[in-house]
Amino acid sequence: MNLIDKTQLGSLPLKNRMAMSAMTRSRADINGVVGDVHVQYYTQRVSAGLIFTEAINISEQAIGSPFTPGLFTNEQIEAWGKVANAVHDNGGIIIAQLWHTGRVGHSVDRKGILPVAPSAVAITGMKHFTSEGPKDYETPRELTVGEIKQIIKDYGQAAKNAIKAGFDGVELHAANGYLPNQFLADNANKRFDAYGGSIENKIRFVLEVMQELIVAVGGDKVGIKLSPFHPYGDILFDNPVETFTYLIGELNKLDFTYVELMRRSAAFPVPSYPNDDEIELFGKQVKHSIIANSGYDKASAEAELKKGIAKLISFGTLFLANPDLPQRFEKDTSLNQPDRATMFGGGAQGYIDYPFLNA
Ligand SMILES: Cc1cc2nc3c(=O)[nH]c(=O)nc-3n(C[C@H](O)[C@H](O)[C@H](O)COP(=O)(O)O)c2cc1C
Repeated sequence: MNLIDKTQLGSLPLKNRMAMSAMTRSRADINGVVGDVHVQYYTQRVSAGLIFTEAINISEQAIGSPFTPGLFTNEQIEAWGKVANAVHDNGGIIIAQLWHTGRVGHSVDRKGILPVAPSAVAITGMKHFTSEGPKDYETPRELTVGEIKQIIKDYGQAAKNAIKAGFDGVELHAANGYLPNQFLADNANKRFDAYGGSIENKIRFVLEVMQELIVAVGGDKVGIKLSPFHPYGDILFDNPVETFTYLIGELNKLDFTYVELMRRSAAFPVPSYPNDDEIELFGKQVKHSIIANSGYDKASAEAELKKGIAKLISFGTLFLANPDLPQRFEKDTSLNQPDRATMFGGGAQGYIDYPFLNA
């Protein structure tokens, strides 16, 4: 089975080709500090070749949802240090996913302050999970160029904080409709300055953040997650192939380690988009290592690796529900089913109590 073969990602030696993708679980405390349950949750999953943390807010401004963790106060950094140490002590490798939610937030969980975004365009067609229940999205406040420059610096500082905490690297969350994805998207970015208008301008934010991360911690510790055809968060492109082909061409000029490519989900179809498989279409253009994501099971993951485009496959819900997923794949055993009711928020239940095979 290819999935359990050793590999190397940049300078990181991985025990297999199975990554756990980033999953927000909304179980930090009110100050965005993680605790003992997080140490246990991540340590339970060290048989993954690589673990991505849940998305972590890079600043106070970045916060969109309650009980999501941060990486910008000493208390938060120290708490993540306990997670990273425990994962390392148990033979695992863990990368911090860096998050700015942009317009995917609500003022009720932002001390009354409106979310910020490339443009004052609200998300429609979905509601936001807030501490007061589901709410319609508000129209965000458009960022000034000075604020954009500050956010880029905040990403760099958060990356340094991640390395200080002991993480093995950082991933820019540029997928799923969050701030970097908002800059890329034609329906969310209506700016006329250096950060909007042409494709060259719309990709500028992502490129500048990546450059900042590379300078902050070194390219061997940096990667990015992209979801070109996934419209989650009310994200639409006039021509996603053109935008992402251009973006990948520019990313190819930068010295970093991997691109995690998330395929669309059948639950979010966009009829005007091409039917191409994202790994085939975009993966072949990427010069960095590819981590393929979304919707894989053992058979489709093995088949994907055999194509020779992706180096790793990342699994989300399967790792959420199966802390020992590599062992289960190797032995071809049954899988625990994820419980949707406990995915976001709550405590230990549905978090650290999914059974191991030999429990
Ligand atoms: C509960 C939950 C939380 C998620 N949170 C994040 C996140 O914080 N960052 C991210 O990049 N993707 C997030 N995702 C998406 C997953 O990382 C992954 O891309 C998606 O689940 C598809 O992979 P899968 O089919 O193997 O589950 C989340 C998914 C789930 C189910």
